[in-house]
Amino acid sequence: MIGAAYAAPLFCGGFRRNIERKMLCFRTTMGSLGGWIYDLVMWPLEIRWGKGWRIALWRGVHGRVLEIGVGTGANVPYYPEGAQVTAVDIGEGMLSRARHKARGLGRDADFRMADVHSLPFPNESFDFVVGSFVLCSVRDPLRALAEIRRVLSPSGEVRLLEHVRPKNERLGRVLDRIAPHFAKRTWELFPTARLQVETERALDRHGLVRLYVLRR
Ligand SMILES: C[S@@+](CC[C@H](N)C(=O)[O-])C[C@H]1O[C@@H](n2cnc3c(N)ncnc32)[C@H](O)[C@@H]1O
Repeated sequence: MIGAAYAAPLFCGGFRRNIERKMLCFRTTMGSLGGWIYDLVMWPLEIRWGKGWRIALWRGVHGRVLEIGVGTGANVPYYPEGAQVTAVDIGEGMLSRARHKARGLGRDADFRMADVHSLPFPNESFDFVVGSFVLCSVRDPLRALAEIRRVLSPSGEVRLLEHVRPKNERLGRVLDRIAPHFAKRTWELFPTARLQVETERALDRHGLVRLYVLRR
């Protein structure tokens, strides 16, 4: 089953199509097979690095919090006590697993099916908008950022954990060729979306995974 999930992108996209299309196909396959496969595939990464990344992502988050692209709920164990968390995703399979995880951990959050390109919330309704590995997955990251900005309170903060193109040019060029999905220049979108980068921190020695803190 897992082998099929890994192989699906190759056959769906055909060997001649580019990696981006294969990644899209991979995500679609994952969505339809269910969130549990996503968890299974991500499990080695989560065991090795996930905890440290997610602790850093959620440190100091409080008040009215929106988590975008909650997925299967990998961040649920790190939701701060007392925070009012609303968590959205477009995949029902992922959401139901996140709900299940939250119930098991006794965490209270409002899980909703919603598209980050068009969030069903009023302007300025959250103190924090948090997301991990979401901008790399959405169809139109600039539109998603505009929506994030719209629902963020004027004094609010955006926390994004993203895998991006490393600053090391040689490694960046290698990734451009073999895995462009993991070499996105996500930071270039922030000024266009009128979000200021308050801090940017590399969470691994190559700077592949970075934590961005943004403000309006
Ligand atoms: C790579 S997963 C990351 C999941 C989770 N945040 C984590 O750290 O494991 C990306 C998630 O974004 C969700 N997603 C993709 N496009 C979306 C959209 N337009 N609106 C809401 N969620 C979306 C996917 O369904 C998926 O659950």
